Amino acid sequence: MYTSYDNSSLVKIVTLLKSHKSEYLSGQDISEPLMLSRAAVWKHVKKLQSLGYKIDSRPKLGYRLTKTTELLLPWEVRDGLETKLFGKRIYYFDTINSTQNFAMELASKPQENGTVVIAEKQTQGRGRLNRNWISPSGGIWMSVILRPEFEISASSFFPIISSLALGIAIEKVLKIKPQIKWPNDLTIDDKKVAGILVDASVESGRIDYLILGVGINFRIDVKKIEKTIKNTGNYYGVATVASKYNKTNPAQLVQAFLLELERLYNLFLDGKSEYIIKQWTKRSSTIGKTVSITSSHDPIHGRAIKIDKDGALVISSKGKSQRVLVGDVS
Ligand code: BTN
Repeated sequence: MYTSYDNSSLVKIVTLLKSHKSEYLSGQDISEPLMLSRAAVWKHVKKLQSLGYKIDSRPKLGYRLTKTTELLLPWEVRDGLETKLFGKRIYYFDTINSTQNFAMELASKPQENGTVVIAEKQTQGRGRLNRNWISPSGGIWMSVILRPEFEISASSFFPIISSLALGIAIEKVLKIKPQIKWPNDLTIDDKKVAGILVDASVESGRIDYLILGVGINFRIDVKKIEKTIKNTGNYYGVATVASKYNKTNPAQLVQAFLLELERLYNLFLDGKSEYIIKQWTKRSSTIGKTVSITSSHDPIHGRAIKIDKDGALVISSKGKSQRVLVGDVS
């Protein structure tokens, strides 16, 4: 595991190499200011290369960083992150069972408000409605801890805030416009590119903490995961947000998402949920359509009219309006 408050020699060497991208730094240029042995510098450079940094190393010249890593290492996500709170603390794993479970272990501590847990792979990723979430490398699998001072009823609005934040971030960074399928799937050409899961812990009617789990099919091998999930509930096609040829670094999308999430979260705190609903509705592929909602209750068929202030979908069916808080829409 790496964290954003690691200030190891490894991180110091990356920072030094990044600030001298156009020149070679000799072993001595690095070892002296960082008070390391030349052997230690060499060892750290090897480690950085194994983490995906392209570092050219030449006998008489030294070391030069030619390409940064694609891994979502905490110091990479922090480098250029413009938020005030979200992502100030980051826990990073190569492989974990579920970022959601790890975040839950941390969440009771007040200082973890805004903390992010990220993994390259999950072995037991969780989706909505107790489904599995296949999480191979190439995706962005992350959880954000929030400790809002709200009544429990507000928690159902968080899927709306987070799906809108993700839609806006994807559009800004990747220049494609995903749609939002209620409650919080992000789709491109009607195929799922991302999903959001909100876990809440409640004490005496108030939210103790919320964990927003965000799964983004960034550059995964779609064919591989399709085989596994084709016959599971709610499958309607899978796609990625970045193609093989797109050079965008996934850290940019994480940064844009956290910034947008923080902006919308603050608007929500300021009572601007009407604005959020308006923006969400503009991007929705559900509102205005005739839909079927399946959940643990009887299916509901009707016209999706709007989402209300609690994030519930309002359906007009047989002349009556019905509010739906949980389910899959098709
Ligand atoms: C959905 O069913 O659409 C929601 C999927 C949420 C998956 C994310 S990946 C990061 C976090 N950790 C998990 O185990 N699940 C969420």
